This record gives sequence, C-alpha cells and structure tokens, in this order.
Amino acid sequence: MTSAWDTLEKLHADTWDRRILSLFDADPARFDSFSAEVDGLLLDYSKTNIDAETRAALLELAEAADVPGKRDRMFSGGIVNSTEGRAVLHTALRAQTADPLLVGGEDVRPGVAEMLQRLEEFAEAVRSGALATPAGRKFTDVVNIGIGGSDLGPLMAVRALAPYHDGPACHFVSNIDGAHVRDTLAALNPETTLVIIASKTFTTVETMTNAAAAIRWLEAAVGKEAAGHLAAVSSAPDRAAELGITADRVFGFADWVGGRYSLWGPVGLPIMLAIGAANFRDFLAGGAAMDDHFRSAEAERNLPLMMGLVGIWHNNICGYDSRAVLPYDQRLERLPAYLQQLEMESNGKRTRVNGDTVERATCPIVWGEPGTNGQHAFYQLLHQGTRIVPAEFLIAAEAHEPDLQHHHDLLKANCLAQSEALMCGRSLEEARDLVAKSGLPDGDIEAETLACHRSFPGNRPSVTLAYPKLTPFVLGQIIALYEHRVFVEGVIWGINSFDQWGVELGKELANSLLPMVQGASAERKDGSTRGLLAKLSGSSA
Ligand code: F6P
Repeated sequence: MTSAWDTLEKLHADTWDRRILSLFDADPARFDSFSAEVDGLLLDYSKTNIDAETRAALLELAEAADVPGKRDRMFSGGIVNSTEGRAVLHTALRAQTADPLLVGGEDVRPGVAEMLQRLEEFAEAVRSGALATPAGRKFTDVVNIGIGGSDLGPLMAVRALAPYHDGPACHFVSNIDGAHVRDTLAALNPETTLVIIASKTFTTVETMTNAAAAIRWLEAAVGKEAAGHLAAVSSAPDRAAELGITADRVFGFADWVGGRYSLWGPVGLPIMLAIGAANFRDFLAGGAAMDDHFRSAEAERNLPLMMGLVGIWHNNICGYDSRAVLPYDQRLERLPAYLQQLEMESNGKRTRVNGDTVERATCPIVWGEPGTNGQHAFYQLLHQGTRIVPAEFLIAAEAHEPDLQHHHDLLKANCLAQSEALMCGRSLEEARDLVAKSGLPDGDIEAETLACHRSFPGNRPSVTLAYPKLTPFVLGQIIALYEHRVFVEGVIWGINSFDQWGVELGKELANSLLPMVQGASAERKDGSTRGLLAKLSGSSA
C-alpha cells in the first residue's frame, strides 16, 4: 500500500490549493462522473477536490488493502473479528436469499428466518391486540431499555420512520441517570405498557439497573402479572430467563451480530412494533439491496467504496480530522448520534489487526445536527472557521407532507445553498462590492475591514446523499451504506472494526469507584479523583 499512499500524497501536494469549482470548468460532465446512484440513492462527491487521477489512486489503495477480498470474507462468514474470534454477519439478518451460509459448519439461514418469523408474530400480535396484557388490555406503549447498539439504532430508525407508525408508541431509556427512566415512565400507564429489555450481553450495568427500576414500576401497578409486560432481546437468552421472562418473550441473536450492527434483527423489535412487519421487511430489503450493490457494482460506481475512499482522502491525505453529518431531514435527527457509535466505536482504534500501531490517523470525529437547525448554530465555523470540516448532506426529493410543500422547497434550497457556499465561498472583491452596496454599520469600522469579515474562503468539500423519500427501504439503504463505508475505511487502516476494547477500562474503573462513591476509602486513587469524590459526597476535600 505504500506506493498508493505515496501517489496520493504527491497528488495532494500538486493540487491542494486548486479551486474545486475549477474542476467543473474543466469537465462540464463532472457531476455525472463524480456521483454514483443505486436504486434512487445518489452519492454526489463532485464537490470535493478529487479528480480522475486521485480517484484512480484511491481505488488502487483499496485494491492494495484487498477491500474486495476482505469484503467477500465478511459476507461469507469468515472470522473477521479476530480479537473476539467471531464472524461478522449482520448482513445475514437482512439477506433476501436462502442460499446456505455456513458458520462453524452450520447453515445460519434457517435460524435467521425462524427468528424473523417469531419476531413478526410477536410484533403483529401486540399491534393487533391479540397479545394483550394479562388483564386483557391492548398495549399502548413500548419502552425499550438498552444502551449503545441496543438503543441508538432502534431509536434512530423509529424516529426516522414516524410517518409509518401505526403501532404502540415507542419510548427509549438508556442512560444510567435515574432521570431518564423516571421521566420516561412518569408519562406512561404501566397497565398498558410493554417493557423490552435489550442487551446483547445482558450484563450491561445501565440496562440491568434501568430494567430493575422498570420491573419495580410494573410490579407496583400490576403485581405478579409484571412478567406479562416484559420481553427481552439478547444473545444470552439464559440470563433473560433469570429475570423471569418466559422463553416465548425472549428473542435471541448470535454473537456474529455486533451490538452497533444489530438493529436488523431482534434489537429492531421496537421498529417492527412501531411500523409493522411488512414495513420492517422493506427496511431489510433496502439494506440487502445495498449489500448486493457493495458486492457487485464496479468500483467507481460503488457507493460504500467511494464514500469510504472520499473519507480516506479527507482524513488521511488532506488532514481534516472531523466530519459533519448534516441531515436535511428532521426525522434523521438521531442519525449523527447513531453514526458516532457506528463509526467511532468501530474505527476509533490505534492497533492494527496484527498488533502493530497504526501509522495514520484512523476514524475522524463524527458529529452533526439536522439542517436547518445547525445553520443557526455551528455553520459559522464550517464556513469561516480556521479548520476545514468536510460536510455530508442528506436530503430527500420528496417529503411526507405534501400539504407543507413550501417547507420542503425551503429545506432543499437551504441544503443546496450550504454546499454551494462551502465550495464557492465569497471572494474579497465580492465582499468589497457587497459592502459598497450595503454600506457600513454605525461605528468606526472601515469598508476594507468589514469586507474581510464578510468574505468566505470557500473551497470546502462536501458530499451529498440525495434520495427519493425517507421510506423504510431508503433508510435500510442509507444505514447499510454507512456500515460498509466503515468497513472499507477499517480495512484500509488495517484495524478490526468489530471489537470495542476501548470501552472496557472506564467500565472497570466505574466498578471500582462505586464503593468509594458510597463512602469507602479512596486513598489509592489519584489526587484529582479523591478531591472530586470528596466534593461529590458533600464533604470538604
Ligand atoms: O459500550 C460498549 C457496548 O458493548 C456497545 O458496543 C454495545 O452496543 C453496548 O455496550 C451495549 O451492550 P449490550 O447490548 O450488551 O447491553
């Protein structure tokens, strides 16, 4: 890979100060050549400083890293998660084929199909009222208790698909902060609430603690019938049984589904309860369509591959260390938070698969907010700050509110205006003209000084994902696209995108600190921790 990296660095040295806009002058068909589309989902990366030569070098890098070979290994059930000795097969949860897929010599397809059927039967029975509370009442509300991958995915998707909701209202409790469970349950009637305890391991302290609080809340209202208000999702079904949840209410999944990749299976139960089994199947179909595309599309037209390579270009070659995700789609408000786990827990690593230290930057900081809200908050920095932050816009051609068409027109105009402003900027000369026309404010600022403040450097890159409408299918496409983009980048950095050892130390220390928070001696802790413990206990340090 060294020579591919060298080529890219040389290309960057030759072109770093080139105006992106000049690439459109040189190639009037640039939009067509530097965008790719599958099933109506378009990725436009023409507003970047990538030209045909750079793209060819990026594709060479992907070849040198053996992205195609490693992709095929993942899809076919190879042990890709080496530090945990596991296959990585969340794609099997959404596959639209029954062709055998062997893991450890066993075909996993029948188990996946059977689980999907069980989930559908359960969800549809709850939705119709056929599966009611022990007192015979229809469930009106569902509370999902989980954290990380057992929360962010279903929460994001339930919000995204609000126009399809025709089931019970779904609520989510994740934080160990008692305020979360208290405020969520306070608004609900325990007599008509179903509580889903979602945890891959069924040991996560936040989830177990919140689950205990929710069970107490149920018991206070319905006594011994509380079990009839519970369901569990886990890859450790025995632990769920220990909580008194009956086997028919426990939905298991295999260890080859990573937590942050798990919304396609039982962890997606709240999604299915909210939108119904048929819509959930459309969501799976969207993900599967993206899988097929990732496996078969030619490299230049391959959305996940190109999105990953654009990321590598910005991060490793241009040195931009963060990336803003900006959905112009209010219902994707939790997408940035979801992607923070997907990307930063997957690729926020510094050790290569073989134990060597990674020599280049790995995952950038991923952050964002829906437009247009972000415009009135942090876009100032995007346009005129000293850092360059590549932006990723998401926008639908059509909204779900035909009677509010003007809103959507404004939304589109704003989305396009932002990427145009980032790329084109406003030169000092243009700013001078503007100041000359609009005049000076009261005070003693000079025209030239004000023009400096009102100019924009431009030449700031962005990509745009444009889709027909935020349907379950499209959401499935988008999520699978991001998953595979993470995979592409992880392979190029040579890291394992599927473990998360970096979360362990904090968990261990929290365990050791709990007794100290509750009064035990803290003498072996550092001075700051001791001081803070004293402050938080209410006594002086
Ligand atoms: O924070 C670490 C983590 O293990 C995530 O990877 C995971 O999604 C989350 O905790 C929750 O884990 P579980 O589903 O096992 O409760």
